Amino acid sequence: MTEEQDHGQTPATQGSRIDAYVDRYAARATGMVASEIRALFAVASRPEVVSLAGGMPYVTALPLDMVGELVSDLVTRRGPVALQYGSGQGDPHLREQICEVMRLEGINAGANDVVVTVGSQQALDLITRIFIDPGDVVLAEGPSYVGALGTFAAYQAKVVHIAMDDQGIVPESLAQTIYALETAGAPIKFLYTIPTFHNPGGVTLNIARRQQVLDICQRAGILIIEDNPYGLLGFDGEPMRALRADNPDGVVYLGSFSKTLAPGFRVGWALAPHAIREKLVLAMESAVLSHSSFTQLAVGQYLATQPWHEQIKSFRELYRERRDALLDALESLMPPEVTWTRPGGGFFVWATLPEGLDSKAILPRAVAERVAFVPGTGFFSDGSGARHMRLSYCYPAPDRIREGVRRLAGVIEQEIQLRDTFGTASARDHLGVDTPGPDLA
Ligand SMILES: Cc1ncc(COP(=O)(O)O)c(C=O)c1O
Repeated sequence: MTEEQDHGQTPATQGSRIDAYVDRYAARATGMVASEIRALFAVASRPEVVSLAGGMPYVTALPLDMVGELVSDLVTRRGPVALQYGSGQGDPHLREQICEVMRLEGINAGANDVVVTVGSQQALDLITRIFIDPGDVVLAEGPSYVGALGTFAAYQAKVVHIAMDDQGIVPESLAQTIYALETAGAPIKFLYTIPTFHNPGGVTLNIARRQQVLDICQRAGILIIEDNPYGLLGFDGEPMRALRADNPDGVVYLGSFSKTLAPGFRVGWALAPHAIREKLVLAMESAVLSHSSFTQLAVGQYLATQPWHEQIKSFRELYRERRDALLDALESLMPPEVTWTRPGGGFFVWATLPEGLDSKAILPRAVAERVAFVPGTGFFSDGSGARHMRLSYCYPAPDRIREGVRRLAGVIEQEIQLRDTFGTASARDHLGVDTPGPDLA
């Protein structure tokens, strides 16, 4: 007698012993699988491990007492509004303030075209939801942001990667790919790009290429989704001019307070051409009715009463010192065959291992040596990237970063010796999106 019969019920589904509903999920859920490296990262979060893996902002550097007072004051003074439902588009005053923030990147926009979202991650989800049918093509740099790849996979988009080098996305590669896809009759829905301080690439699209990318997409009628959470975290000079600044009709701009204030507020936004903005608001309402009034008003209050420019400046200095620590340590400790990018801002360095090494195979050994990174395969939707790794410098203190690189260099050195003795590590079969989880995004 089966267990179901034992309970007097006819099983309506075959299921499996682990998940009775395994054959009932929508097709789009089949791509949603926990990464096999997640378990390793549970170990990697132990204090003795130097994590160069996580993309978490260093929120400890915020004046937390001030945040506490601000939040308490908000409840006391504006509780009935802060604790009430809000509008699907977001608090109008915060949307005005967001326009001021975007002006730093040359964007001239009205609050009516802004939708406040639960982090820019939700903006990505909403954009994908309103544009993508299963099988539609999304263009994205290779590598690309793991959270975006996860969203595209969830909506069954086909991601086609565009080559990227030290100066950002390669315009020739973009033009050729568009031409090939159009010739094959594949519907391209948009280009998803992180032009400034790329995650995970650590590179920035140069000024000349910005115009080329805009021109190529405009000629082909392809919408650009410009994801820019790190734009104000540059280490030298003024912020880069956003792509959106030069083409209001062809670009949806995504912004976030996660890196310039704190991700715990979960406040991000999309700035979109009118018609798209309307769809986004409807999609937002169907997803969550409205964003949290409480965190929106808290961010609004912070912007209105605190020296936020100064706070961003102090974050920039903090991250610059950590970037320098990472680059110096890589320079002095890594085997000469390893190369890496030199970010001018943001959180990440993208390292390339010598031929024959596989970063995912190396990760367990690195964790055993008490250092962690994110293997490159997580940042491609086609299983490539095995020779790459993402190293983050945003969270550990500079001396920990140096110690982490020392440990990692030792592991890579050993791998090179193994390769020279026994040949290359067997290439692992790896397909699908390898999302390592939010703290590693
Ligand atoms: C490129 C990029 N886009 C979007 C996000 C999502 O940020 P949030 O949802 O916290 O605004 C991240 C977070 O790491 C990111 O790196």
